[in-house]
Amino acid sequence: MLILPGPNGTDRPYASEITPREVFEKRRKLLGMLAAGGLAGVSGLRWTDAAAQATQRLAAAANPAYQLTEKQTSRKDATTYNNFYEFGTDKADPAQTAGTLKTHPWSISIEGEVKKPFVLDLEALLKLAPMEERIYRLRCVEGWSMVIPWIGYSLSHLIRRAEPNGNARYIEFVTLNDKKQMPGLNYPVLDWPYTEGLRLDEANHPLTLLTFGMYGEVLPNQNGAPVRLTVPWKYGFKSAKSIVKIRFVRDQPQTSWNRANGREYGFYSNVNPEVDHPRWSQASERRIGEDGLFTRKRKTLMFNGYQEVASLYSGMDLRKFY
Ligand code: MTE
Repeated sequence: MLILPGPNGTDRPYASEITPREVFEKRRKLLGMLAAGGLAGVSGLRWTDAAAQATQRLAAAANPAYQLTEKQTSRKDATTYNNFYEFGTDKADPAQTAGTLKTHPWSISIEGEVKKPFVLDLEALLKLAPMEERIYRLRCVEGWSMVIPWIGYSLSHLIRRAEPNGNARYIEFVTLNDKKQMPGLNYPVLDWPYTEGLRLDEANHPLTLLTFGMYGEVLPNQNGAPVRLTVPWKYGFKSAKSIVKIRFVRDQPQTSWNRANGREYGFYSNVNPEVDHPRWSQASERRIGEDGLFTRKRKTLMFNGYQEVASLYSGMDLRKFY
């Protein structure tokens, strides 16, 4: 996915550096067989768990304010073309390896500049506010996008429950860091755990969705089960998956992608067709599923089309704060 500059200044993807080709291909073959059900049960991989997870229904009422009428991405594409580096750097890796993620029991710890730190388990999180279905566009910094019916509620409900104090200006989101469950953590692709951040007003914007499901079901592991963010006006990497900690802080937090390459992945990372990534244009995008040879790319819209967030940035130079 995100291609980090190689050690000698080339644009070589990290995956090819961290895994010798033969090992990578052997592993791919084995996982392919597992996925097909051939060896399931023989290996330590809990593929069947992942499959069961993915078919658990999650009830939600459609929120009429957030119903894109664009054609939805197929569930198959949205669950097999993923970025989740803790499960490998290839798009197909997470669907094949994320069966090892144990999503229950799960909890999120609320820390930092709050009245009193506390822990909420998944059951409490699921009950915190009514579940809504919202159809959002999500655009990856790599230049592709999807339209997905997500299920969750505005993160603002949890923020209210957390009772941040007057010092809280940003939120840091920390995701699971367990090598036993996440094989990708054995490779120094990023500075683990994967962390992300939002300004408090961005986090409180009603569009920012604490997400538990998609396509009428609980999140499949590869999409960030059991709980992730969906921040539709920002590049996809801001939407952290498998969150275990939410920390309210005074200063702008560093994020994993900032640390890896701050010039390419800024803190704000608003979808902005006028600010190119240093190595490619951000003016257009490929919609996953529209992959014909002659299919025209779509024009990328400012804030990914979510103009209602523009006021969050009034007076800011978005070329500087990219
Ligand atoms: N969260 C974690 N923990 N690890 C990751 O590697 N990748 C990000 C984001 N959240 C990532 C993550 C990126 S780059 C994108 S584009 C989206 O997840 C992809 O979400 P999807 O696979 O559900 O489409």
